[in-house]
Amino acid sequence: MEESKIDDLIKRMTLEDKAHQLTQINADFVATDSKATVTGLTGYLKLDNDDVEKVGSVLNFSGGEMAKAIQKKHLEKNEIPLLLMQDVIHGYETMYPLNIAMGGTFDLDLVEDCAYMSGIEAKLNGVHVTFAPMVDLVRDARWGRVNESTGEDPYLNGLMARAFIRGYKKAGLGVCVKHFAGYGAAESGKDYNVTEISEYTLRNFYLPGYKECLKEKPDMFMVSFNVLNGVPMAANSHLLIDVLRNEWGFNGVVISDYNGIGEMITHGYAPSYKECAKTAITNQIDIEMMSSSYIHYLPSLIHEGEINSLVVDKMVKRVLTMKNNLGLFENPFRGIDIKKYKDMIRTKANRKLVLGAAEKSCVLLKNNRVLPLETDTSVILIGPYADERSIIGRYKCLGRVDDCISVKIGVESLLGVEVETSKGCSSNILDNDYSMIDEACDKASRHEVIIACVGESSEDSGEGASRADISLPSVQIELIKKLAELKKKLVLVVFGGRPQVLSEVEKYADAILYAWEPGSEGGTAIANLLYGKSYPSGKLTMSFPRSTGQCPIYYNHFNTGRPKNPDIISNANFNSSFRDELNSPLYPFGYGLTYTTFIISNVHLSNDSLSKGEAIKLYVDIKNIGERDGQEVVQLYIHDIYASCVRPVKELKGFKIVKLKQGEESSITFEINEDMVKFYSSKGEYEAEPGEFEVMVGFNSKDVTTINFTLKRWEI
Ligand code: BGC
Repeated sequence: MEESKIDDLIKRMTLEDKAHQLTQINADFVATDSKATVTGLTGYLKLDNDDVEKVGSVLNFSGGEMAKAIQKKHLEKNEIPLLLMQDVIHGYETMYPLNIAMGGTFDLDLVEDCAYMSGIEAKLNGVHVTFAPMVDLVRDARWGRVNESTGEDPYLNGLMARAFIRGYKKAGLGVCVKHFAGYGAAESGKDYNVTEISEYTLRNFYLPGYKECLKEKPDMFMVSFNVLNGVPMAANSHLLIDVLRNEWGFNGVVISDYNGIGEMITHGYAPSYKECAKTAITNQIDIEMMSSSYIHYLPSLIHEGEINSLVVDKMVKRVLTMKNNLGLFENPFRGIDIKKYKDMIRTKANRKLVLGAAEKSCVLLKNNRVLPLETDTSVILIGPYADERSIIGRYKCLGRVDDCISVKIGVESLLGVEVETSKGCSSNILDNDYSMIDEACDKASRHEVIIACVGESSEDSGEGASRADISLPSVQIELIKKLAELKKKLVLVVFGGRPQVLSEVEKYADAILYAWEPGSEGGTAIANLLYGKSYPSGKLTMSFPRSTGQCPIYYNHFNTGRPKNPDIISNANFNSSFRDELNSPLYPFGYGLTYTTFIISNVHLSNDSLSKGEAIKLYVDIKNIGERDGQEVVQLYIHDIYASCVRPVKELKGFKIVKLKQGEESSITFEINEDMVKFYSSKGEYEAEPGEFEVMVGFNSKDVTTINFTLKRWEI
């Protein structure tokens, strides 16, 4: 449709029409004819059937039939088609691993392919725009939503988010970058909690990921739930107007989060729904999700001169333009093809793709040469996740647990025999029933290898699922201790949506594979990795703490004036450390083993000084000196030693995936340029400050080879 027609449409709309167009509610309300649902549980919306029939968009519906039905119903009364949105986060029906796990593949093509696959599945079911990617920087593993993020590094998050966007868009799905901004900094990792982030930290750590997304032209941004520096994000003009609209030039749709506008009352910021509407419209939040202040107060606010009708028209125009760009005016049922969908899900290609993603995202944390296992050793599967199919996370759309491969199914089909299994304890993290441990140990005593599948359930991470203690539950620790006493080979496979504290059990295990929530083919992937049909290559994108008290812990921290050797417990006072814990994480950012050994040598620079507008090169030789083929992620970090604002001890600035056969070697080159060392400085500008830099290269953020270069003072 031509742009002028959108303007004509807007001219014909009443203020009430506009308010409805700018509102999003649950699809369930539209699907039902009963007023009861609307006034029941979600009575706070105070909407009647006329309102429901007129709203411009809906969220979360269950498949193509429903999408068709609600669109049809909507068009009986409206000229403008309904927008349908859904949380397609890490799969639609064919599920790939959690985003935190996908980040650890460092594989942007794989991420793009997975997003594309889920985008196609979703589009065939009538989804127009997904509430993804989630780009929140995360540092505190107590926060349940770390599982939706790709981790603690702004550079990697930005690249990953772009790969997700490319994949979704290629499939024809619109995207919504979320949650803007700083939601990941929730105090004490408690969901929806307040955040305090200085401009320096926002600009250098929290904002770059979202900003990077603009390069892929996202359709939408979602406003986060958090109070930031005392003001709810829905009221934060600095970020919503000055930064997002004016500085970054984003002219797409901004949507609130679920009741995020209405919650300004609960926060103690806006005294009434009317004030909520006024604040949110002033900040140009184009769509109000699951609160109804626009419907109730937008018209009167305009009549009273409290808000500008031109601003409202601009907001409506953005929404209609997005609908138009998505092709909804030409075909409101765009994409829906239930037959094609049924033919494509569970195809070999989709299952192969998510299998590959699961294999690449599991992280081998420890291996005392017990892995890979021989297929002829007698093995038992122990633990609450040994025969658990629910390993696809909570944002599963139409993902079906009964369609998932558990570890037991995966191992049995690889070995071609039945494998003995015993639970040992329940998956409830609060459980203190130790009564199943003896039986599990008794059974385990008759085998050479014990694979213990432990961790947290898919319900224990995600939205609203924060944890105050991220250790394994004590009953699992006891189970592992008792299994270790049997003096068999003990392999832990750990499930979960966040880094968990493994310090108490790490010493008992011969090997640890961190499986996250690996998706529909999780059990196959784990079996393939354990038996060497594929090799582990996943890396951690969040530091794994030694104890919960270290949270938040992240590799790109500042030095402090009194740093402490991170691997020595402090008994001296007056340094930045704990008296009862090391400063270092148990496993650092970027860490993950494989079944062979790579070494780095001959690290050198083309020039040890860098001039404005030029680039220097860093050369690195890599060799596979182990006994198998394998893959490593070569990581490049930079440290600006002295600056007008202190800089992190290191920051990821580049990476390359290197695959080498046994004995093979290769040379790789990184380019280093001025842009890579720019930061938001004390002058409030992005700039590179001349001086000394350290450049580090390694296979994780801790074990690195360091050399220096100088950024030359610019000639005037
Ligand atoms: C979450 C969002 C999500 C929305 C819609 C909210 O509770 O914070 O991430 O997109 O619900 O389901």
